[in-house]
Amino acid sequence: MIFRKILVTGGAGFIGSNFVRYLLKNSKFSRQRRDPEGIHQKSLHSGEIRNSKLKVINLDKLTYSGNLENLRDVESDSRYKFVRGDICDKRVVFDIAKGCDAMINFAAESHVDRSIRDSTEFIRTNIFGTQTLLEAAKKYRVRRFIQISTDEVYGSIHRGCFREDSPLLPNSPYAASKAAADLLARSYFITHKLPVIVVRSSNNFGPYQYPEKIIPLFITNAMENRRVPLYADGRNEREWLYVLDNCDAISHVLHFGRDGQIYNIGSGDGFKNIDLTMRILRILGKDKRLIKFVKDRPGHDRRYALDFIKITRLGWRPRYKFEDALNETVLWYKENAGWWKRLKKRKEQKFW
Ligand SMILES: NC(=O)c1ccc[n+]([C@@H]2O[C@H](COP(=O)([O-])OP(=O)(O)OC[C@H]3O[C@@H](n4cnc5c(N)ncnc54)[C@H](O)[C@@H]3O)[C@@H](O)[C@H]2O)c1
Repeated sequence: MIFRKILVTGGAGFIGSNFVRYLLKNSKFSRQRRDPEGIHQKSLHSGEIRNSKLKVINLDKLTYSGNLENLRDVESDSRYKFVRGDICDKRVVFDIAKGCDAMINFAAESHVDRSIRDSTEFIRTNIFGTQTLLEAAKKYRVRRFIQISTDEVYGSIHRGCFREDSPLLPNSPYAASKAAADLLARSYFITHKLPVIVVRSSNNFGPYQYPEKIIPLFITNAMENRRVPLYADGRNEREWLYVLDNCDAISHVLHFGRDGQIYNIGSGDGFKNIDLTMRILRILGKDKRLIKFVKDRPGHDRRYALDFIKITRLGWRPRYKFEDALNETVLWYKENAGWWKRLKKRKEQKFW
């Protein structure tokens, strides 16, 4: 499927900004050949989609984690437009959704620790905001609606991996709000035949991630010779997906996925937090004495792991090796110290 006008919500955040850039970079201006079958097949491995008419609209409220600096390099691209607005604002959403043939909902409150302190905004944005978007998608008959969900909706797994049909047992208010949105999106497919796809990604890392999340927090603290706060015994395990692999997977699902389906997006690279921390410190040449064990997060999930065989059957698989992607990420934070130092100085937004 080829789309002309794609509405991306939350495109000024970490994954959303990488995705907007990915879309613009991988959509070829070249004229489309009359080869409906071939277009899809040829783009399977390159990530390239021949689309000469692409327009990308980014709707973002610019909360503490939204940052237009993340998209400086594409802001003058004639195919791209930014609109500041709230996904809960029906007037704005309906106005923008008109004429769009695809919608991809990244906008969310995304930090588990913040949801433990106060979940109000999580319920509002993640649930009510998604419902507003779904209503607009229904009214304007978009051809594809992608709800960006998370592996956290499944809860914790002691061993093995979650499949798309595993039960949803979210443990944090953040995960519960994402599970509600995920199920709401599915219900619009069942009830209204809205062409919805839900993707559940594992933990992302890479450039432009707000420095409250573990990888950028630890890289930037260590660079400043500050302690890195590790919860409990450091043995909680996460599956790490490089953000560009995630963007590639979401684009793949957008173009080749099947309506009404759920796709897990994983990497198979599971690490205990302590091992991840040691790797980061090693790359930066820092001493392990920077590690500070702190009181555990309430309701902290022990382990996440995804079975992502279903999306590989669509022809996608992760391309980046974890070690290379982590090195690239550390390098990015080294080379873009101004970016994260400005964010870390904004005391009112501080959460670490
Ligand atoms: N980061 C991860 O590891 C991860 C993993 C799986 C799924 N996800 C999901 O991916 C999506 C993006 O995550 P992220 O890490 O980039 O988050 P982020 O916090 O970096 O970005 C969220 C963006 O949404 C915007 N936003 C928030 N509330 C809004 C509202 N009411 N209206 C419009 N815009 C609003 C913010 O301004 C920000 O630009 C989220 O839905 C998240 O649940 C994230």
